[in-house]
Amino acid sequence: MALSHDARIAIVGAGKMGEALVSGWLDCSKPPAGTIGARNLLAVNRSQERCDQLRRAYGIACTLDLSEALSADIVVIGVKPQVVPCVLADLKRADPTGDRMRSSVFVSIAAGLSTAAIEGMLFEGARVVRVMPNMPLMVAQGASGVCGGAACASEDVAFVRDLFGCLGVAQIVPESDMDAVCALSGSGPAYVALMVESMRDAAIGEGLDAETAERFALQTVYGTARYMLERRIGPEQTRASICSPNGTTVAALDAMVQAGFPEAVRAAVAAAARRSKELGNVQ
Ligand SMILES: NC(=O)c1ccc[n+]([C@@H]2O[C@H](COP(=O)([O-])OP(=O)(O)OC[C@H]3O[C@@H](n4cnc5c(N)ncnc54)[C@H](OP(=O)(O)O)[C@@H]3O)[C@@H](O)[C@H]2O)c1
Repeated sequence: MALSHDARIAIVGAGKMGEALVSGWLDCSKPPAGTIGARNLLAVNRSQERCDQLRRAYGIACTLDLSEALSADIVVIGVKPQVVPCVLADLKRADPTGDRMRSSVFVSIAAGLSTAAIEGMLFEGARVVRVMPNMPLMVAQGASGVCGGAACASEDVAFVRDLFGCLGVAQIVPESDMDAVCALSGSGPAYVALMVESMRDAAIGEGLDAETAERFALQTVYGTARYMLERRIGPEQTRASICSPNGTTVAALDAMVQAGFPEAVRAAVAAAARRSKELGNVQ
């Protein structure tokens, strides 16, 4: 069955990411999430307290009964990767013939779990879409890689891409690229945080007070990203436009290259991609 703009969405494991999806979809005015209201959303969690919190904050239904997710058109698996097998086994127990689950699309945001692994935990022919989001999704500025499993229609994958497109940038990629996406945008916020930290500490070393140093470092990263996105100016051109001959920026960039900054970033992304592959193999 094709997904419609009035799809019912169950979010199993509404923690940090699950809540970001709820709040982002309710706020979104773009289709298809633009038509999603509280009536379309169901959170499934394991504590009553968390459910009460989500109900109060967003007016959505929330239950501790996983079997209620079986009536949803889209089931988002929002639990930690190590909990996914247990949740999917419980879903299968609640629907042993698979009759109720057959019409649902399962969306996994669990890092490192392949669509084939999730299909294997569900049933043959399960429609699985895998999404690799990142932390800025929590402020609707995410970067999400999206890929479909063997039994997914291309419309299913496009629909899920558009849902996540409401929370930043979302792009369909081949599943073989997911380790690279994980290493770039999944872990990327931590690289940027280290950059901010290093800039702050260096500025403190130059005599700036800690509060001003952190505020300016952060605003510089945010402002540069916004400038480049809004003016559609690439990194090479941005860099060139700041450098004047014999100026401060040239001196700084020379020092960065000499200290091995580009190699360090390459090594970081390669290490993260390697680790993502290893984790996928373990699961
Ligand atoms: N955070 C990120 O930046 C990020 C980025 C990319 C992908 N992801 C992926 O997103 C997923 C969620 O991460 P998160 O950071 O949102 O984790 P989280 O805050 O710990 O959320 C997980 C939620 O699942 C609930 N839960 C655990 N077992 C459950 C069960 N059996 N039935 C129903 N709910 C259950 C937890 O409840 P309790 O609070 O009671 O334990 C919690 O509310 C993970 O698979 C992660 O790989 C996260």
